[in-house]
Amino acid sequence: MCGIVGYIGKKEKKEILLKGLKELEYRGYDSAGITVLSDGELKTFKAVGRICNLENKCADFISEGFGVGIGHTRWATHGKPTEVNAHPHIADFSNVIHNGIIENYQEIKKLLEQKGHQFLSQTDTEVIVHLFEEYLKDDAENNGFEAFKKTIFCLKGAYAILLVSKKYPDRIFYAKNGSPLIVGKGQTGIFFASSDAPLIGYTDKVVYLEDGAIGYMDDNGQFDLLKNIKSLEQNRAFAQKEGFRYFMEKEIYEQHKVLLETVMGRVSEEGIYLESIEDRFFEGIDEITICACGTSYHAGMSGKYLLERIAKIKTNVVIASEFRYSEPIMREKELFVVISQSGETADTLEALKLAKKAHLKTLAICNVDNSSIVRESDAVILTRAGIEKGVASTKAFATQVMVLWILSVYMGRHKKILDNQCFKNQVESMIAAIRATEVDVKLHERLKRLSKRYLHGHGFFFIGRDIFYPLALEGALKLKEISYLHAEGYPSGEMKHGPIALVDSLLFTVALMPRHLLYEKIKSNVEELAARDATICTIGSEIFESADDMIIIKEGADYMEEFFSMMVVLQLLALEVAIRLGNDVDMPRNLAKSVTVE
Ligand code: AGP
Repeated sequence: MCGIVGYIGKKEKKEILLKGLKELEYRGYDSAGITVLSDGELKTFKAVGRICNLENKCADFISEGFGVGIGHTRWATHGKPTEVNAHPHIADFSNVIHNGIIENYQEIKKLLEQKGHQFLSQTDTEVIVHLFEEYLKDDAENNGFEAFKKTIFCLKGAYAILLVSKKYPDRIFYAKNGSPLIVGKGQTGIFFASSDAPLIGYTDKVVYLEDGAIGYMDDNGQFDLLKNIKSLEQNRAFAQKEGFRYFMEKEIYEQHKVLLETVMGRVSEEGIYLESIEDRFFEGIDEITICACGTSYHAGMSGKYLLERIAKIKTNVVIASEFRYSEPIMREKELFVVISQSGETADTLEALKLAKKAHLKTLAICNVDNSSIVRESDAVILTRAGIEKGVASTKAFATQVMVLWILSVYMGRHKKILDNQCFKNQVESMIAAIRATEVDVKLHERLKRLSKRYLHGHGFFFIGRDIFYPLALEGALKLKEISYLHAEGYPSGEMKHGPIALVDSLLFTVALMPRHLLYEKIKSNVEELAARDATICTIGSEIFESADDMIIIKEGADYMEEFFSMMVVLQLLALEVAIRLGNDVDMPRNLAKSVTVE
């Protein structure tokens, strides 16, 4: 989704801004722009599409000497992805960039138009810079800050804003509410960004601005006055493709490594240890509600089966965007668990705020430390998947399910449901499941070949039972996200209640057939489809005579080992189909890595 960078200092500003924007590319965007203000000149460049288009546009521009600069990647919400709609937005002598949505922009625009302001774009953002210049007309203190504050107080909605003005060429005005914004200080100046990545290498001291933060920075030490200055983790391994064709492929291959990270220090023969969560955190809890979006929601659905089966605790799973407006009944004995890879998903964040308002205990399962969701929650379990660059989530899903599994065993142990032997079995099973995610290169080769048979047809059904049903949903989501083919996940026992009407030889059914969970039941369901001439591809360790194609996995010791093996197969299948169709796997059309609008 949209990204923000800013810089105050003497270094070549254009290079710093472009480099920062490249670090944000993985979040998804459709246009980009920068503004540099130095020597009294305000220079703005914008381009639709990739950052390289923007680089070409400003190739001859040099910005040495002291100055300020702001840069933005835009993911269109109000108005098409055009150059005019790209940020920075320009008024007479000031420029602004913004992440989020200004809900009352139309009324502000009307008032400003009556005062003679002319607007170029269809965006909500453009009103900010015009409003600032309007208030500047009677800024008593004449330092710009009063006018900026008045501007911000008029805005309703979510925002992270950076604004520069020719009248105050040494500073960047900033404001934050709902959208992330970080400011850092390094040896070469002051830096802003909407996430950590662009700051690494430039600064190790940062402040994650809180909602309501409003101010300005120049190079005169305001940074040192800020509270909560934190160190920025510098040795975070930057995701590079390391020889893989796509980040998504690399991320599938590294799942066994990151899953080990997830369990490390938490799972041992002695017990489960959840750092930063006290045992009494779970006291009095008799029910869990899990809330999330997309892939994280599928992880949550998988978690329900684990929590109910292992810890015998009633668990509800809700989609965040539905939950928010459904006037949900919330009980104080309910633990509210939010799951998010990015930690910035607007719907999940708002659902979390609702639960807090209702005095529920909240727990975040998240991949990004210091993200908005982490900071808002009472407790957190980090998934430790590392930076995930592919828009289609893979390793984050794997680690989310693993955390939910660890949580189930932890709660089962505390409720004295799991005796020592059962506990030991669970730990062994986790280790086996992690091993099962190591990609078998021969299997991958087979999937590459097989994928050519699944490029057409009129759709896919991914079917499974029990915890393999959310896995089927996830398999379908992966395929549709990157191949743009229609795919649906369905509980296999439910096919005969309607969808079976669609079955013919051009309907592809991918059937998840674990040997250790309801095998005979799903076998009958698949037979019913085979009898109606569906084209069937089974994933399992058994030969299944009625299948058109079989993807044979190693027989696992239990259903969770099979779950993780099949997860990898589904991810690779989606990847290979999408590659054959010539799609950009890492940045699929219309999608964003972090969905910060509702
Ligand atoms: C995953 O492949 C998707 N791109 C998407 O569904 C994602 O899981 C969803 O937007 C939630 O994101 P989050 O985990 O960062 O909250």
